[in-house]
Amino acid sequence: MITIRVNGKQHQLDVEPDAPLLWVLRDELGLTGTKFGCGIAQCGACTVQVNGVAMRTCVLPLSAVVGKDITTIEGLSADITHPVQKAWLAEDVPQCGYCQSGQIMSAAAFLKAHPEPTDADIDKAMTNVCRCGTYPRIKKAIHRAAALVAGKGV
Ligand code: FES
Ligand code: FES
Repeated sequence: MITIRVNGKQHQLDVEPDAPLLWVLRDELGLTGTKFGCGIAQCGACTVQVNGVAMRTCVLPLSAVVGKDITTIEGLSADITHPVQKAWLAEDVPQCGYCQSGQIMSAAAFLKAHPEPTDADIDKAMTNVCRCGTYPRIKKAIHRAAALVAGKGV
């Protein structure tokens, strides 16, 4: 048995320690907001936060996250009131939506480390792929979220 903490809850699981976290989240815990894209750590669709840092879970073994705080899109806020979620809604970012939970989890972790990001900071940090090309709206939403966090209430 292996125990992990996801969105504040402990889960005891009968799975192999080298199972990728993505499969455990989706198949064992039913947290299907986190998506499978490439499976080789290239696209970012599977991004969650581990101790507040964005991590790609398709290549992250369960053993690496024992004792850490895992946050998925389902746990980012109780009622879609995280500043990044509010900004995403205001800027109407998603198109098909498939990549978006990964984008949001990446953006939320990025903003904690860069509360006043420039366009260049965003371009460098936000490497998640969006086949629909929502990149300009993602950038606008990150700036909007930064303003919300700074209390500017855009
Ligand atoms: S599915 Fe994990 S990075 Fe693409
Ligand atoms: S919104 Fe469709 S892949 Fe990003």
